Amino acid sequence: MALAGKRILIIIGGGIAAYKVLELIRRLREAGAELRVVMTASAKHFVTELSVASLAGGKVFGELFSLTDESEMGHIQLSRDADLLVVAPATADLLAKMAQGLANDLASTLLLATDTKILAAPAMNLRMWLHPATQRNVTTLRNDGILFVGPEDGDMACGEYGPGRMSEPATILAAIDRALQGDTTLALPLEISAKSGGLLAGKRVVITSGPTHEPIDPVRYIANRSSGKQGHALAGAAAAAGADVILVSGPVALPDPHGVDTRHVETAAEMRAAVEAALPADIFIGAAAVADWRVAEAAKDKIKKSPKAPAFSLVENPDILAMVAQHGSMRPRLVIGFAAETSDVIAHAQAKLARKGCDLIIANDVSADVMGGDENQVTIVTEMGLETLPRLPKDEVARRLTLRFAELLQSLQAVAPLAKTRGGSDA
Ligand code: C5P
Repeated sequence: MALAGKRILIIIGGGIAAYKVLELIRRLREAGAELRVVMTASAKHFVTELSVASLAGGKVFGELFSLTDESEMGHIQLSRDADLLVVAPATADLLAKMAQGLANDLASTLLLATDTKILAAPAMNLRMWLHPATQRNVTTLRNDGILFVGPEDGDMACGEYGPGRMSEPATILAAIDRALQGDTTLALPLEISAKSGGLLAGKRVVITSGPTHEPIDPVRYIANRSSGKQGHALAGAAAAAGADVILVSGPVALPDPHGVDTRHVETAAEMRAAVEAALPADIFIGAAAVADWRVAEAAKDKIKKSPKAPAFSLVENPDILAMVAQHGSMRPRLVIGFAAETSDVIAHAQAKLARKGCDLIIANDVSADVMGGDENQVTIVTEMGLETLPRLPKDEVARRLTLRFAELLQSLQAVAPLAKTRGGSDA
């Protein structure tokens, strides 16, 4: 983390998500950042100045025309002194003020009176977020170079579901770190696109997720530790980007992602059939941990315990990713696989890229606490090279990967029809 000694000015807007900023402040201080905090008048309805000041370890600023504040430090100096301004929650009102260049309170004045980088973490009701006025403001702000993290899809305090939830403190912290390191591509809101309703609007995306269960008898099965969290997060992110998403899910303990056509399967054979039925597609993402083998003949009745342990003969399962990648005319424009390895992660991923005939492999080291955990650290492996993302919550990994996939699809479409001839022999 590049946070130690960095001067960060946090501007807290007036929204229910303001309570999450307390946690963000705590984490920033732990990471060694030097904080100054400004609260809008409405922010003080949601969190108290006392809690913010105690956690931030200093005075909280709020008044534009405060004689005492002004004598200690001119308000312009507040934002000039900072390495980064973070607006969280960035309410519809604050974003509108920023987009219009209004300066009628301390927060908006500081945001206008600076050329320091600004990171905004929007939070609002989904209808406010999706309103053309807010989308227009966000497009303006993006063009002005404002960085965004979130918002996420999720349950809202008002009881609705959709985009508008402020990103979690860990995600904002990671975004702050990236912003300080000069990353200008981070976490663009996927719904935003100049012309259409999303970066993947009109595109069809098929994703596999979760483990498969291969029966031994009616009560026992072969499985693995995949939770499906990353695959499901990708399905949610692709849907948020406007894609028509079919998620073929093995048995998982997760709810079906919002706005996604989820088809439930148990075995690799069922997963393959469901994927075949879902094609054609523009993008295929094989995020499932498909069992490599199944028992040749599952017993019809429960196998009884006996002194002699039963012997099973295993047969190989169909490789769904390789099948899709080598599907001739039905091959999606972009075929993406995952490589979960415990050693030589990149070398294995590069070999897999060639063997399976896909365009990208997302490599992740599952020797750490990744399988079943909430965070992931991935490297995007292509024929052109590697791109390593930092360790991030799986939702944020999904958002960033989806952005990359959308960019790649756009660049492929700019090229004449692609004749894919690459392929492997282990299909
Ligand atoms: O060969 P390996 O299992 O390591 O490859 C992992 C990638 O291949 C993942 O994207 C996974 O979804 C996909 N796969 C598949 N069908 C299999 C095995 C793996 O689609 N039978």
